[in-house]
Amino acid sequence: MRQHNKTLITAALPYANGQIHVGHLAGAYLPADIYHRYLVGKGEKSLFICGSDEYGIAITIKAEEAKRTPQQQVDHFHKINKKLFSRMGIDFSHYSRTSLPHHAERTQAIFKEHLRNGWIEKKTIHQLFSPAEGRFLADRYVVGTCPKCGYHEARGDECTKCGASFEATDLLNPVSKMTKKPLELKETEHYFFRFDLFKERLKKWLETKNFKPATMNFSRQYIEDLKPRCITRDLDWGVPLPIDGTKGKVLYVWYDAPIGYISATYDLQAECVNEYWLDPKTRYVQFVGKDNTTFHSVLFPAMIMGQDTPYKLVDDLVVNEFLNLKGEKFSKSSGNSLDLESMLRWISSDQLRFYLSLIAPEHQDCDFSFEDLIVRVNSELVGKLGNFIHRTLTFIQSKIGSVPKVGVLEVGDQEFLNQIEALLDTGAANYENFSIKKAVETLLEMAQLSNRYFDHQKPWSLVKDPLAKNRLETILAVCLKAVQALLAQMGPVVPVATKQAWGFLGHAVVPPRAQAMSIEVERLEPPLPLFQKLEPPVKDETMSEPTEACQLQTAKTTPMPDHHKELTPMIEFSDFEKVDLRVALVLECVAVPKSEKLLQFTLDVAGEKRVILSGVRQFVQDSAALVGKKVAIVANLKPRKMMGIESHGMILSVMEEGVFEMLSFSSAPSGGRIG
Ligand code: MF3
Ligand code: ZN
Repeated sequence: MRQHNKTLITAALPYANGQIHVGHLAGAYLPADIYHRYLVGKGEKSLFICGSDEYGIAITIKAEEAKRTPQQQVDHFHKINKKLFSRMGIDFSHYSRTSLPHHAERTQAIFKEHLRNGWIEKKTIHQLFSPAEGRFLADRYVVGTCPKCGYHEARGDECTKCGASFEATDLLNPVSKMTKKPLELKETEHYFFRFDLFKERLKKWLETKNFKPATMNFSRQYIEDLKPRCITRDLDWGVPLPIDGTKGKVLYVWYDAPIGYISATYDLQAECVNEYWLDPKTRYVQFVGKDNTTFHSVLFPAMIMGQDTPYKLVDDLVVNEFLNLKGEKFSKSSGNSLDLESMLRWISSDQLRFYLSLIAPEHQDCDFSFEDLIVRVNSELVGKLGNFIHRTLTFIQSKIGSVPKVGVLEVGDQEFLNQIEALLDTGAANYENFSIKKAVETLLEMAQLSNRYFDHQKPWSLVKDPLAKNRLETILAVCLKAVQALLAQMGPVVPVATKQAWGFLGHAVVPPRAQAMSIEVERLEPPLPLFQKLEPPVKDETMSEPTEACQLQTAKTTPMPDHHKELTPMIEFSDFEKVDLRVALVLECVAVPKSEKLLQFTLDVAGEKRVILSGVRQFVQDSAALVGKKVAIVANLKPRKMMGIESHGMILSVMEEGVFEMLSFSSAPSGGRIG
């Protein structure tokens, strides 16, 4: 087993240039999060760092298309992605961004060290210059004829038709992407990082690693023909080149972005840099998609080797393959993508995490399919795992009413418990080896075994025999142990349900993995089903338009999830009458400073103004869009102070199954009584 007890985890910084999708999640963020949660659940120290990658030509181009400045563009998507991550339960210790000024300063400082240490050299090269725009055009700003296949719309860095990659200067008849005007070759100075000088050191270092065979082979080959790479661009969006007289030149995004892992940690706390990056005892694990391999297995390590601070080099590089949709790459521009936000209105984050773990593209590309998703969630998550936990807890609750006592264990009981314990060890090894797919398969095996034990022992027939009470309690106590083992194994994958289930066992805080099976269940709370079945997004649809389908689903009435059937005890009409429900017009809605949860609503209730705070900030994208809506409020709730602001009432809304909706009215007058 490992010697380390402190782990630094990073996941590739996503470009703040579009919304993250399930392909990104499956490739890097979910496995990283699950690993982080696993370590924390073991009681180990783990720091999970990520952030938005905000420079580069892809961003300036998209920003121009969207008629935004690059800063507006990245502000927009940084916010959206940060929220999507949090809705998916991706539990970063810190999510930073590379457009912060201190990141540029750190990158420039490292550049100067590289320069001083002799790893960077200046070369005069020919680049494409646009006389009409008065500037050099970096690769993606150029289009022209592919030198390989003759395709007329080839991009400056690659041909989207034949897949060839090349330099913009290789294009025939290059023109400006924006103006379509012809370009000329002109001399300009650029800076190159001499990666080739690191060849021997990198080779030696790589051979001490135990990355996946595909990663090792690919990296070995890449090192074999390592060449100097140009690390500057003629662009005004990026980390400025810290050399006098080079105005208009910035560092290439792939030079600054990985340094972002370090600056993001500084951003959290300088102490964390000392504790993790600078302590040789730290284990450093990176999670990336396969298109990012060489940057992490070769180029960034060389950059670290070439500067002066003893930052950790990666110990474990977890490279995942792609998750595809209908056999092709996720791509928003070609319409082959799923909108995570719409999906989360239909499916809970736990359900999606479960499915993405089950089909994790660990060794080969995998395909995401709605049909498969529904089948796996319903038959395995709900049908096996959720079912065993729920049947055990409800059976104990209704037939025993208290924590069952273990009596004499029969051979079969002991055998079952031994198997479960052995599987829990297997499950731990699966997590240690970064295989969330196997970890979930082990979990399902445990659930299946448990269901079989339950069926075999037939507690429902023992109930009828008063003499069998001790035996019944023993069986149920054994089942309860199995539930605890299941919770330990499922915790990192489906954290919301796990926390809820521990609550049913009287533990508000999830106990450490090692204690999961031995900890006493103090009392049993009335259990609710942990997972709901999924209905197809839309009946008879081929699901070729999943985004729309998902949205439709929320509008349709789905059968009430089971836990809604458990109503609170009956009240008298006179009790109900005490509640003064009114229609209120939203005049203003703003976030409460320093609060992650609260929105401050200013409302009009029949001409009277009032302020109500509501803890729904995380569900509301655009608070200004709520202005003018007529909502339902409890008007006679005693005032309550939160974050120093007095709240006069409550706004009615639903937050279930990932759906958030406020009760609202169209023609009813403000102040109107609801009843
Ligand atoms: N933004 C890149 C991508 O999405 C990944 C950058 S990883 C980092 O492909 F190491 F540079 F941060
Ligand atoms: Zn081509």
